[in-house]
Amino acid sequence: MMTAKHLYIKTYGCQMNVYDSGRMADILQPLGYELTETPEGADLVILNTCHIREKAEEKVYSDLGRIRPFKNDKMILAVAGCVGQAEGAEIMRRAPYVDIVLGPQTYHRLPEMIARAERGRDKRKGPGRGVLEVDFPVESKFDHLPEERYERGSTAYVAIQEGCDKFCTFCVVPYTRGAEYSRPVQSIYDEVARLTLGGVKEITLLGQNVNAYHGRAAGGQTGEWGLGKLMAHLATLTGLTRIRYMTSHPRDMDEELMAAHRDIPAVMPFLHLPVQSGSDRILDAMNRKHTRGHYLEIIEKLRQYRGDIALSSDFIVGFPGETERDFEDTLDLIRDVQYAQAYSFKYSPRHGTPGALMDKQVPEDIKTERLAVLQDLLNMQQQAFNAACVGQTLPVLLDRKGKKEGQYLGKTPYLQSVYVEAPASVFGRLVDVKIEKASANSLTGPIVKVEAFLQ
Ligand code: 5AD
Ligand code: SF4
Repeated sequence: MMTAKHLYIKTYGCQMNVYDSGRMADILQPLGYELTETPEGADLVILNTCHIREKAEEKVYSDLGRIRPFKNDKMILAVAGCVGQAEGAEIMRRAPYVDIVLGPQTYHRLPEMIARAERGRDKRKGPGRGVLEVDFPVESKFDHLPEERYERGSTAYVAIQEGCDKFCTFCVVPYTRGAEYSRPVQSIYDEVARLTLGGVKEITLLGQNVNAYHGRAAGGQTGEWGLGKLMAHLATLTGLTRIRYMTSHPRDMDEELMAAHRDIPAVMPFLHLPVQSGSDRILDAMNRKHTRGHYLEIIEKLRQYRGDIALSSDFIVGFPGETERDFEDTLDLIRDVQYAQAYSFKYSPRHGTPGALMDKQVPEDIKTERLAVLQDLLNMQQQAFNAACVGQTLPVLLDRKGKKEGQYLGKTPYLQSVYVEAPASVFGRLVDVKIEKASANSLTGPIVKVEAFLQ
């Protein structure tokens, strides 16, 4: 029998990284690696990093410094993800005790990299001898990943598309994740079928530009299917009751996808559709390839198709050249749409992106001020959206344990968090909760019905 080795993975950033971390654990399990909760004493430590904003990147270097004292002869330290991709050589220089640096497209080769790091370790005399794998291989990692080894519980992420060809002028993703790629329908279907057999009831289909999905058709058909058709196909799987997807781009919201919200009961009434700014001038400078008007038309149509659809977005304040007037346009758009939730950020200039070289960078104090105003408005909307649920009975999939004994939490169809006090038998099940209380971040109330066990 193989002796268990300990694997610690820390995940930063987006859901795609959460998915990737799970797949890395799957790949390493046959080599005897079992997941552990702390880096101390681990045989392999992987930091699965995020490069989207400066803060995320700095965090990686400070965490490396924190892990360094635990590093002994036995431990292999790897930096994976988008910082690895963007800054490979720099990491090796700044933190020569790192053994492996890899990008998001090469993690299927981890076993080989570990073997190389182990071989090299004895011979390693100084910096610059670590393993660096940051190319974009011709083969897709999806064709080389093993089946899932770890239980996913009742909800799971499934990556269906990766990369981005949009080149928004603020964003590093096209450089770190590479060109757009869609997995074939059959391979996704097989993965979701395995997950549902294992008890998964809700999947979130992931992609940097998930609604640009165009994967090879299944069922003997030729050509490609879009996201709407893919979801219709997945919805035929027994036991799969909820389908979500993120993140979408307004340019790729086609008719078939919008109609899926009307026609497929499993497709949840929730859409994360980042707009970034409400000013046409700024949208143009960001190279978003759509106008404010186009975005609002999409929202209107979606609401015709699915009256209760909850909306979410990302916003950036202080993009170069953003005036007070542009910022007002963003606030105005938010008032128009009424979001259920949203994420907002100060513009962070990223090396290698066109935005970083633009004139009229906005001073930090103005960004801070604008962000506070914007977040006040968004918080008020979120609070109002939650408050409107009081008195309603909503289905909640209880997929997480709360901090307190006997406390469970899950999401409504609109992606709100709901806390309940309940016996352990409810864990992993879909229940109806009569919402009695709402705060800005969560809902609570008694369970009024528990779904029947699905055989
Ligand atoms: N600065 C600030 N926010 C950014 N985002 C992406 N790049 C930057 C940047 N350079 C935000 C966008 C995107 C989300 C994932 O992160 O809003 O939708
Ligand atoms: Fe980045 Fe724009 Fe692509 Fe989204 S669409 S990943 S913001 S470049």
